Amino acid sequence: MLNRVKKLPANFVWGGATAAYQVEGSTQVDGKGKTMWDDYLKAQGRFSPDPASDFYNRYPEDIKLAKQYGLNAIRVSIAWTRIFPKGYGEVNQKGVAFYHRLFKECLDNNVEPYVTLHHFDSPKTLFDDGDWLNRKNIDYFVDYAKFCFKEFPEVNNWFTINELISLATSQYIGGNFPPNHHFDVTSAIQAEHNELLAHARVVNLYREMQLPGRIGLIHVLQPIYPITETPENKHAAALYDAFLNRFLLDGTFLGHYTTETMALINEILEKNNAKLDIQPGDMDILAKAAPQNDYFGLNYYQSQFIQAYEGESTNQFNGTGEKGTSSFKFKGVGEIVKKPGVPQTDWDWNIYPEGLYDVLKRVARVYPNSKTIYITENGLGFKDHYEGPDQIIDDQPRIDYIDQHLEAILKARSEGVNVQGYFVWSLQDQFSWANGYNKRYGLFYVDFDTQKREIKESARWFKELADTK
Ligand code: NOJ
Repeated sequence: MLNRVKKLPANFVWGGATAAYQVEGSTQVDGKGKTMWDDYLKAQGRFSPDPASDFYNRYPEDIKLAKQYGLNAIRVSIAWTRIFPKGYGEVNQKGVAFYHRLFKECLDNNVEPYVTLHHFDSPKTLFDDGDWLNRKNIDYFVDYAKFCFKEFPEVNNWFTINELISLATSQYIGGNFPPNHHFDVTSAIQAEHNELLAHARVVNLYREMQLPGRIGLIHVLQPIYPITETPENKHAAALYDAFLNRFLLDGTFLGHYTTETMALINEILEKNNAKLDIQPGDMDILAKAAPQNDYFGLNYYQSQFIQAYEGESTNQFNGTGEKGTSSFKFKGVGEIVKKPGVPQTDWDWNIYPEGLYDVLKRVARVYPNSKTIYITENGLGFKDHYEGPDQIIDDQPRIDYIDQHLEAILKARSEGVNVQGYFVWSLQDQFSWANGYNKRYGLFYVDFDTQKREIKESARWFKELADTK
């Protein structure tokens, strides 16, 4: 027994998560088009997305491992540029064939695929044309989604877009994703609104097509707490929460931004001389889609503690977690500070399972349209070491992390929150956007030189839990 074993509910979805660009490698083969990352990473010269975990070739091995260790589901994403190398136009049949092979392998092994259409990897052609800020690109996304829905009837669980907030803030606030803008508040909030529109249009399309499967999207939620209960800190926390969570949750599940949410967002916009362009018809699209989401993919890693701040914006916002950038001051919003007594990961991420419990309760209370919730990512970035045969890869901190978060989930569930599954981030070690290869999350260790997989203790523990269902 590796840790105290709790019991999983019967039929609980118990999966591992991946994303195309972080695992597949083979970024330049079989007709794949470039994403916004290829030239950017090459120019940076820090690390290469090839071969990542070589999932493009080794997916059968990974899926068999998943099955062997008790997983009944896997999150994968489709690389848009394997299907449409330019984002639109001609279809690349080799890319299409790869995903048919991948889904077949999953289904043959009873590992249900949950498929995301966009996981941080916009096609380069569309990125160069403004990415989500260009409304024409929303049309291309809808076309791509429609193609996938028709082409892959074997997929029954879809997510449109992954972590809209991380993409928008990493691109336009923190500047650690291309195009590396800093505190460009207008672009960040506009990208969020446009991505919500893209999501809503695809949900509406899915319903029009009368497809039998399920569709939703994925938000990462970061519960926000005032560092102390002063009126100033409480207001700063409300502003931060509106920017990171509430605007997106309202748009997704209410189909409108509430007056209270907009008052907070407008305050941020005003203080940053920024503006949001909502065009006629936009809100009708969101309103139509909101009750049509079948489920909600909730990613959770950490909570934030906020203190009031009146000065200029400084430092970098850290969407994906580069060590050492945890002090962050956002003009008109607040300052992220550490709370004494709250432990942190090697990358300074707060370990705060209570935040997951709180946010689950909140989503269920305020956003009933979220219906069924899946935890689509949760896990611990850790510097695992593997020295060679006979060595146990002891990742007890990861086991503890998952265990504590599972506890929070099961508690919320016992109080009526409809959580039906959990996907650990990640299935196997993979490429990390801002940190390359030394930030490992996997249940399975990947030797990035040989691509050999090794079993971590967390995988064995995961299996023990699977057996309790
Ligand atoms: C969220 C993202 O979806 C994923 O791509 C990323 O690697 C993990 N969080 C860890 O930062």
